[in-house]
Amino acid sequence: MSDPAPRPAPSRTQLPAWQALAAHHAEVAGLHLRDLFAPDPQRGERLTAQGAGLRLDYSKNRVTDETLDLLLDLAREVGVEQRRDAMFAGERINVTEGRAVLHTALRAPQDAVVLVDGENVVPGVHEVLDRMATFAEAVRSGEWRGATGQPIRNVVNIGIGGSDLGPVMAYEALKHYADRDLTLRFVSNVDGTDLVEKTRDLDPAETLFIVSSKTFTTQETMANAASARAWLIEGLGDEGAVARHFVAVSTNADAVQGFGIDPANMFGFWDWVGGRYSLDSAIGLSLMIAVGPGQFRELLAGFHDMDEHFRTAPLEDNLPVLLGLLGVWYRNFFGAQTHAVLPYDQYLAYFPAYLQQLDMESNGKHVTLSGQDVDYDTGPVVWGQPGTNGQHAFYQLIHQGTTLIPCDFLAFAQSLNPLPTAQGPSHHDLLTANVFAQTEALAFGKTREEVLAGGVPEELAPHRVFEGNRPTNTLLAERLTPRLLGALIALYEHKVFVQGVVWNVNSFDQWGVELGKVLAGQIVPELTADSEPELRHDSSTNALIRWYRERR
Ligand code: F6P
Repeated sequence: MSDPAPRPAPSRTQLPAWQALAAHHAEVAGLHLRDLFAPDPQRGERLTAQGAGLRLDYSKNRVTDETLDLLLDLAREVGVEQRRDAMFAGERINVTEGRAVLHTALRAPQDAVVLVDGENVVPGVHEVLDRMATFAEAVRSGEWRGATGQPIRNVVNIGIGGSDLGPVMAYEALKHYADRDLTLRFVSNVDGTDLVEKTRDLDPAETLFIVSSKTFTTQETMANAASARAWLIEGLGDEGAVARHFVAVSTNADAVQGFGIDPANMFGFWDWVGGRYSLDSAIGLSLMIAVGPGQFRELLAGFHDMDEHFRTAPLEDNLPVLLGLLGVWYRNFFGAQTHAVLPYDQYLAYFPAYLQQLDMESNGKHVTLSGQDVDYDTGPVVWGQPGTNGQHAFYQLIHQGTTLIPCDFLAFAQSLNPLPTAQGPSHHDLLTANVFAQTEALAFGKTREEVLAGGVPEELAPHRVFEGNRPTNTLLAERLTPRLLGALIALYEHKVFVQGVVWNVNSFDQWGVELGKVLAGQIVPELTADSEPELRHDSSTNALIRWYRERR
């Protein structure tokens, strides 16, 4: 007799810890942060945790000590520690693709041993890193010349999703450490405007393209790479120039060769690196050229610092675990639909966009690992912008709107660009005062009595009241260094992992992006056919296609 099919795990909502949290929520949901702080003068020091150069203040969350205990019970009950250890050990936890999930191996030290099918993958990781370093140094020093003998001054990364967002975010974040004689550009959108605008002022003789694509089949990247090649050949009048001006980062050697890039100029990675977890693989080549191999290795060291913290710190002091569980508290028990990330550092302008892919592509899932529909919410909408700009745009809704938006505020003790002002406090003092003011205002608000005491007329008072009780995390660090950035990214990677375990979803596949890709592939010939195509879509899509055909 064959084995019976494995029984699906009971829904998370049936777990004792989940049910205890639901009951507890009914009791504490009405508590105000004012009530939590007033009797507990140590709360602001007590509810903090440190790791890998980061300090998390989570005291301004709508939690009691009991809430935290129950959330930690939930983490234990769903097996966060066991799943974490399985990931680090190279088990094939990406069950729908049958793959290990080992971005942590990309930043493992040289003497570490991480086995996949009995083979230690760490030497291969360092071999690629060393090749990247040699190449990056050759470009930076001018030893690598273009086809006409000129040194490279412009590096253009062509990629999309994880093959773009990581490099562009980290390049912007670490610009302070970059060689400013090099111009870095990132082309991602299949909209020709992206490539045209990003190359219009570049001299092809001094330009290197890095075609970054895990699969080397992604429509946008392949179209952009082909057009970039045409731009280069037209500019230099020489097809042979491609070899000196194009390199590739991919897992697909055959397709790279098919494109005409010498395999010697290909930097590989592995199927156990997900696109949104690939910045610290060869996908980071453009960044390494910009900041140099030494700083890139510092970035990897920071990732590893956080990996070690996540792997070894007790759950109650573990930054990714705390952030993940607090997110679950708001998402599943308060019904919060979104989560804002608000970096108070201009260099981190792209960090929220990067986190959107990391979080939403990972946990935007509606079935469990074994394919059952979930009966609870999973990943939130993640969004944000650097402060203080957001304050003058959308913070109004966070302060006084009708929806609860938990926020992460990120800030640094020291600016990389200390700039005094004529008034005395530096720009950085002004910036930092805003961070602390926002989290204070969001937590404690302003009561009607306080508003009236300030002389506001009765009829305006309702408009001037701040309810407060808006939860925030504050993440602080000394200064934005490559190492700190690595730790910060890994913090969110592991936060997303913790939440994926709680929600029992596969955080490492992305089937949800497939259908649109397939349909686009079908529609392209319908848009371009010389004779009227037979359209078999719904009436709306058919009409849209006809409208475009009449005007293109
Ligand atoms: O959007 C889907 C996706 O597969 C992402 O997960 C990935 O980062 C992106 O496309 C780019 O894929 P590739 O690196 O294979 O071009």
